[in-house]
Amino acid sequence: MNRDSRFMIGLYAGMALVPLFLFLYLLSRWFGYAAAAPWLMGAAAIWLLIFGIIGSVEIYGHGRTALERMPIIIGKRVVKGLESERGERAHGDIQITVNVRRFNPVTKEFDEDTFKVYEDRLTTVLDTLLKVKSVHDNSLSMRYSCRMGICGSCGMVVNGKPVLACEANLFSNLDEKHSITIEPMRGHPLLKDLVTDFDDFFEKHESVDPRLQRTNKEEQYTAHDAYRQNKEDVNRFLPYSYCIMCGLCMDACPVVNSNTEFIGPQALSQVYRYYNDSRDQKGKRRLMDIDNLKGAWGCEFSGSCSKACPKGVDPASAIQLLKASIIENFGDS
Ligand code: SF4
Ligand code: FES
Repeated sequence: MNRDSRFMIGLYAGMALVPLFLFLYLLSRWFGYAAAAPWLMGAAAIWLLIFGIIGSVEIYGHGRTALERMPIIIGKRVVKGLESERGERAHGDIQITVNVRRFNPVTKEFDEDTFKVYEDRLTTVLDTLLKVKSVHDNSLSMRYSCRMGICGSCGMVVNGKPVLACEANLFSNLDEKHSITIEPMRGHPLLKDLVTDFDDFFEKHESVDPRLQRTNKEEQYTAHDAYRQNKEDVNRFLPYSYCIMCGLCMDACPVVNSNTEFIGPQALSQVYRYYNDSRDQKGKRRLMDIDNLKGAWGCEFSGSCSKACPKGVDPASAIQLLKASIIENFGDS
């Protein structure tokens, strides 16, 4: 039961007391218990005073008084059972059908649930899922953190495409019936509902040594000055450093989805990023590590990774450039 419902139950219960008090007052007059009458009228007056105070102060931090919120609370959207915890229905206009394909860890199968919510045009898919969770089913699980496209936690499949739920506009993903289908990513093991397991993803990322390496280890950890770079040096790797490790490219990649050995576009784009950083001295050893079918040669260049990337990293081009560097350095035998 949400706060609005609790408030309304309290309010109705309180209001029901007023006719009760009046009825008891009349009874007491009819049957001559006149002494009880002032007490009953006093109790009714106190309740009306409390109701007046509640009605005139702001409740729940919505910037509206309880009385001002009455039409919202008892408005037609609530009557349809589409209430929301924080009164969002005051702004939401359009009824949305949210189809969620959620993984059940007990049965290891997918459950398909449909929820109805009202939303406006400024809503993201993640906000809608959070509304579903707060209003309809608090067992619905999803992963998110920053809600601004930075942390990379909220990757999921919306209408068949891997996206960041916090960046995806709800209305641009609706079909003509105002419905949307949300599923977990498919390129990662499933944990619960929309939550996937990223252990394998992080292991693959870690396998390419994604950090600056210097030949002189002592100097690497005790450097007294910054490693200086000019603009050209920076531009050689900058676009590839924007990766937020959301895993959408891995989800979109047909090779990752059919060959679990392939380290995938995210890890390979990071090889390219460090290989092209003038501060890094691991050099050709980075290329040797991926000169195999698990690495660069596993890529079949479908390009779906770059299409899915929300940060414009373009892993597909990074992998082709790595292949070219491998051939340049070690030949094509
Ligand atoms: S390369 Fe793009 S899609 Fe892949 S993990 Fe990094 S940010 Fe996400
Ligand atoms: S919640 Fe952080 S990227 Fe979506």
